[in-house]
Amino acid sequence: TPKGTCLESVKIAIDTGYRHIDGAFVYYNEHEVGQAIREKIAEGRIKREDIFYCGKLWNTCHPPELVRPTLEKTLKILQLDYVDLYIIELPMAFKPGDAIYPKDENGKFIYHETDLCATWEAMEACKDAGLAKSIGVSNFNRRQLEMILNKPGLKYKPVSNQVECHPYFTQPKLLEFCRQHDIVIVGYSPLGTSRDETWVNVSSPPLLKDPVLNAIGKKYNKTAAQIALRFNIQRGVVVIPKSFNPQRIKENFQIFDFSLTEKEMKEIEALNKNVRYVELLM
Ligand code: A2P
Repeated sequence: TPKGTCLESVKIAIDTGYRHIDGAFVYYNEHEVGQAIREKIAEGRIKREDIFYCGKLWNTCHPPELVRPTLEKTLKILQLDYVDLYIIELPMAFKPGDAIYPKDENGKFIYHETDLCATWEAMEACKDAGLAKSIGVSNFNRRQLEMILNKPGLKYKPVSNQVECHPYFTQPKLLEFCRQHDIVIVGYSPLGTSRDETWVNVSSPPLLKDPVLNAIGKKYNKTAAQIALRFNIQRGVVVIPKSFNPQRIKENFQIFDFSLTEKEMKEIEALNKNVRYVELLM
């Protein structure tokens, strides 16, 4: 992100009414997010407790002894005392070290054997220490969630699982499993991603061009993006749309003044293609 873009966007978002901010060390802009939050607090527009900041534990930091220092590093970058939610970003571990994407001489990722349950216990300790109000996971499938849920001596279960979720990838089975276990699904790429070929499967058609989403949007004088977001929040899925454009930041917030009918919800559900944009081939 060009310097300052994230700072300005988060400030506009907070002014618009957003309170949930989804960040990560590997986005390399946590310093700007923290600055935006602190500036808005200093202005008196919000209090710290109004903000819900989610940070993420990266793959190279899964060994239990690295978890707390990693979170402490994030807090130092943010210049905040705690995060509201800290999540394990991915269920696979990379070799610890300075390289964020450690690779061998053949360009293959260097993985690292760790026990996700031990990582989870270190996450629990971060909550006990008050560094994270809640703890959760991301990109976990049912089996990985069950591994944590069935861990002997589990102290806190994951409050949320952040996964790709939108009308072309509706996650019916995982959503049902998480509902049964009181785990909130947080849907990333709720607008179908930026279609950046370096990490997105662009052979799947662009979500926002979908005729059904656009036709329903016409009826409510809303855009396909607003319909896609409304669809998820109306079925209890949290959405974290990304935009660095002031107009679109505002547009993505204008989704609380209308509701989709049951028939429209079904129509949108039927768009599911069970194909991910974000394949995470590592
Ligand atoms: P931009 O930052 O220029 O607004 P996702 O949240 O699914 O990852 O999608 C993010 C992508 O969608 C970004 O490329 C973002 O671009 C774009 N985007 C965000 N909001 C909208 C919107 N309301 N309409 C169209 N595109 C949007």
